[in-house]
Amino acid sequence: MDRDLSIDASVLLPLGSASHQQCESCGAEWPELHAAPQCTTCGGLLVIRHAPPVNARGAQMSGAELQHAFAQHCCARPQGHASGVWRFEQVVMPTAGDAIVSWPEGNTALVHRNAIAQYVGVDSVWCKHEGMNPTGSFKDRGMTVGTTQAVRVGATAVACASTGNTSASLAAYAAQAGLPALVFVPAGQVALGKLTQTLAYGARTLLVRGDFDDCLRLVQESAQELGIYLLNSINPWRLEGQKTIVFELLQQLGWDAPEWIVLPAGNLGNTAAFGKALREAHALGLINRVPRIASVQAAGAAPFAHSFAGGFRTRTRVQADTLATAIRIGDPASHNRAVQAITFSNGVVLSVTDEDIVAAKRVIDAAGVGCEPASAASVAGARALVQRGVINSGDRVVAILTGHVLKDPGILVRMHQDAAFADAPANTPIEIDAKVGAVAQVLREHPSGFSSTTLS
Ligand code: F0G
Repeated sequence: MDRDLSIDASVLLPLGSASHQQCESCGAEWPELHAAPQCTTCGGLLVIRHAPPVNARGAQMSGAELQHAFAQHCCARPQGHASGVWRFEQVVMPTAGDAIVSWPEGNTALVHRNAIAQYVGVDSVWCKHEGMNPTGSFKDRGMTVGTTQAVRVGATAVACASTGNTSASLAAYAAQAGLPALVFVPAGQVALGKLTQTLAYGARTLLVRGDFDDCLRLVQESAQELGIYLLNSINPWRLEGQKTIVFELLQQLGWDAPEWIVLPAGNLGNTAAFGKALREAHALGLINRVPRIASVQAAGAAPFAHSFAGGFRTRTRVQADTLATAIRIGDPASHNRAVQAITFSNGVVLSVTDEDIVAAKRVIDAAGVGCEPASAASVAGARALVQRGVINSGDRVVAILTGHVLKDPGILVRMHQDAAFADAPANTPIEIDAKVGAVAQVLREHPSGFSSTTLS
């Protein structure tokens, strides 16, 4: 594929420079420990810039040297470096030192299941299960770095707006760091697993009468006014942590990049982080080919897909509505960064219906893998791209499963016990008397897979 990758060099600072933050809008530069999560001059979003890591001779590490260093960190002690985030410390936060607040997180599995591959329509489909992180979503990768930065800048409290996963993750990491956490979630729109987790970890939880976009506006204003450190993915350190999903999957594939990385998209922090990771991985010589990113939105919350369809000429905002509550977002904060990610990787943006999401979730769940609804958008999106001939039969695809199946028990109850979902195969629980005869009767009436010898 012909792509101009010459801009790569500019992604890294000159050898020996200290990492710093730079405003994406006005270009202003801020030191690494500048505490404001956005540009203090113009309010623009910040990006973290690093110099290439150096070897013992003081020269830029080659891609192979860096790969070797990352591999050695996998088994490192103490735990810090063994984290799937902090073993990439040199390209995430090289000066973190002892400040690291780590669960540890990452090291998530890349799984292949025939049923999922058949559903998508290509052989080589790997699911990277970010639901296997300590609080059950990929947010932990960004939160370990964001919380570490909060400690480094001397924050006295942390805050976020959330559709549920960020708040659960923030609550857990803030508890570990001993910082009070304030979270803003849309009232009545957060999955039960996420809300209860956030409460359990002890965050002060505000149920805002409004949607996620209202929550994000409110937390930005409140954090600034009340002097609380903001840990939404607006904060560039969050994205540094989330980059490691890509570094880790590339490492798991022996640095032989797949053709596609497909992920669900809401506020677009992850899409932006993936683009930055790929640019840096390519500029550092870790990979010699750049995978294409496919960002998948729910049809009822697809401003980025609309914008992509219009050649990114305008930024779209919508009133969001989808059963995939994690990505029920109408005005994504990282729009501009995500445009860069899609453009750089020659990527695509598409939307899938809630029906597509539920259908894909059934396949992922029934394969014994399981994920929350938003996560299934990646598999539904990959299938749609195969059907449209965008993903080819020989392509290798990594689909990101962003959250754990238990995050949203409400949807599972509806899928398996609610008549509204009756057209699809449900797995309805059956109440019986505590008698063997009753068990045998159920298996006779619903044999599904139980052999006739079992029933004789
Ligand atoms: N998948 C899950 C499970 C999520 O929780 C989110 C975002 C996304 C995908 C989309 O990622 O926003 O980076 O494009 N959840 C945020 C939250 C908004 O508050 O938990 P994105």
